[in-house]
Amino acid sequence: NWKMNMTPSETAKLIGELKPLIANEACDVVVCPPACCLAAAKDALCGSEIRLGAQNVHWEKSGAYTGEVSTAMLKELGVEYVIVGHSERRQYFGETDETVNKRARAALAADITPIICVGETLEQRESGSTNEIVSAQVNKALCGMSEADAERVVLAYEPIWAIGTGRTATSEQANDTIAVIRGEAADKMRIQYGGSMKPQNAKELMAMSEIDGGLIGGASLKANDFAAIVHYDK
Ligand code: PGA
Repeated sequence: NWKMNMTPSETAKLIGELKPLIANEACDVVVCPPACCLAAAKDALCGSEIRLGAQNVHWEKSGAYTGEVSTAMLKELGVEYVIVGHSERRQYFGETDETVNKRARAALAADITPIICVGETLEQRESGSTNEIVSAQVNKALCGMSEADAERVVLAYEPIWAIGTGRTATSEQANDTIAVIRGEAADKMRIQYGGSMKPQNAKELMAMSEIDGGLIGGASLKANDFAAIVHYDK
């Protein structure tokens, strides 16, 4: 998740650096540049196994929704994944559980894999309501989806207090909360951890039984760091 970083030319450069570092991987690797960089990313990714993702999508097919992008726009740019309900969207741009659900369902209908983010604030963790909060977020995000559709969803557990702060949840905290989320989700669903994941802590986090992958923000902006996370087990 590159967030609001990189111009189209910088996108091409970063992907050019990543391509030789990431090849023949056993895992799925996705980059999510800003919407205006997706075309440059598509071109730069040619011949690579790295997949392309977007950071948001609207649920309507087209129309008067200034600033939004549709599934058809993303599809034409080769987008296969889309982040939905990132905490920054929820915190700063009024994203609600209901709009998260609409966006995720629109993505699935267009055969784009939604990466749905959930997570609690520091206050919620300290008051002991983490499990309740994330369970409700997951239930609302998956509302109305068939079991088969829900299995195509990727969930990302991102404690808000760990995002961009350098403060990582302990691997036990992440694992325990993801176990709770898994109880609410389809069995086969992939569940990632996100929040200050970096080369130094990726191995420990990925060793946890419930953690299937990572959603990387800051460390994804440096080719060597991102590749080191992908290669956490080497
Ligand atoms: P971070 O961001 O790795 O910079 O904490 C993760 C995210 O917000 O997806």
